[in-house]
Amino acid sequence: MSQPLRDARRFEEEKERAIAPGDRPAFHLSARVGWMNDPNGFSFYGGQYHLFYQYHPYDSHWGPMHWGHAVSQDLLHWRYLPAALAPDMPYDREGCFSGSAITLPDGRHALMYTGVAEEVGAGGVRRVQTQNLAFGDGVNYEKYAGNPVITAADLPEGGSPYDFRDPKLWVAPGGGYRAIVANDHAPGGGRMLIYRSDDLKRWTLEGVAAENNGRLGTMWECPDLFRLDGADVLLGSAQDMLPRGFEYHNGNGTFCLLGRFDPDTGRFAEQSDQAIDYGIDFYAPQTLLTPDGRRVMIGWMQNWDTCNLHTPSTPWFGQMSLPRELSVKHGRLYQRPLRELRSLRGEAVEYRDVAVENGEVALPGVEGRTVEMEIEIAPDGPLFNRFAVRFAKGDGRYTQVSFRPRESVVKVDRKFSGSRRAIIHQRRAKVQHDGGRLRLHLILDRFSVEAFIGEGEQVMSATLYTDLTAQGISFYADGRARFSVRAWALGE
Ligand code: FRU
Repeated sequence: MSQPLRDARRFEEEKERAIAPGDRPAFHLSARVGWMNDPNGFSFYGGQYHLFYQYHPYDSHWGPMHWGHAVSQDLLHWRYLPAALAPDMPYDREGCFSGSAITLPDGRHALMYTGVAEEVGAGGVRRVQTQNLAFGDGVNYEKYAGNPVITAADLPEGGSPYDFRDPKLWVAPGGGYRAIVANDHAPGGGRMLIYRSDDLKRWTLEGVAAENNGRLGTMWECPDLFRLDGADVLLGSAQDMLPRGFEYHNGNGTFCLLGRFDPDTGRFAEQSDQAIDYGIDFYAPQTLLTPDGRRVMIGWMQNWDTCNLHTPSTPWFGQMSLPRELSVKHGRLYQRPLRELRSLRGEAVEYRDVAVENGEVALPGVEGRTVEMEIEIAPDGPLFNRFAVRFAKGDGRYTQVSFRPRESVVKVDRKFSGSRRAIIHQRRAKVQHDGGRLRLHLILDRFSVEAFIGEGEQVMSATLYTDLTAQGISFYADGRARFSVRAWALGE
């Protein structure tokens, strides 16, 4: 084991002890210590789920990337394992960037990741990105002696060797391996490349699956490609997006392309595009197939524009989203909270047809910061102007998810959450509803809210850093509305 990896493992093991479990999310994975960004190597291996992540243990801000590692039986209770990769080779000295994992026929776990190395040329120092392998047993990983396995020489015409990253691997149904890798290509911006290999070590370019052509931001990152419910789904994360209507407001945001992938040409014939998450904090998602056949997605629950405002002494920064079960219906991507979440539920507290008019009500038994709520909102007479669920409430602070049926808008708003920074605090989504009837499914976990709207046709995720003493929940209406709620305290 290299010295940098040994150092990281010793450091994280020691520093983690100073973080009380109650100061972290209860069931969302957070950085063991220091900084976390993208989920990596999300896979089921050796009878358990593995989730690696972009990791800088030595600071709560981004730095030379390692891979953190955690395992779980149910995707909710995570156990940290020692860091899996450290930047310790000439081809990854500047960082082990994002990548993925598969199981090999011989039983080993294979990781493919982007190595970043400095190259000094006529134009000064540039950071070259290549794709690399590491093989392991679920705890310890050895980098392949023949790295890098995909380099600038494998790029199609005009591809940038400086933005060439985030390989997502899969085992091809007809045999062999495929990888989809993000690449920048002037002047249109990002594109997703397909590579094929028989032995995982020698790769050839198969084709360009999808191209940005200046539509969705600039560089594309973190691709994922899979078949679901009769459609092919290409997920990506784009830098520097311009908003389009209510879509793509996140600067660096996520997108989902639905269409048809031709495995022979590597071409993805695109039929539609949409945002994946309509909240403030969601990026770089990755999926896996569970042993029982569910396509589950997890993302980094943060936003590149607002993730640098905490003090350096913060012991951990960065958490994952809730794992979400995906489906494709009515030409859109739908998301539902992972069904295992039900195992964390305490006793249900239920209220039916509660009327609320020009004010707010609190309901006995509905409170706390680790809570799940299924809410059905309906008009009670003339259409109300606004209905809101307020939570993490206390001492003048709250965050809310509100619904304005006249505008068909759901909004997440954390401006009174205790934030003292002039950052984005609100985001709106255009929603479908039935004359003011709407279902909201909210998951609160200490420092976050994820709002699943309707059947899961939209999700809005946001982090909040309100003091944990703010435990209140209330239901507000401008006008007169009626609602039913089922709430569960979620245990650890
Ligand atoms: C996305 C990303 C990836 C890269 C990683 C570096 O958030 O920029 O493209 O591999 O983060 O940490």
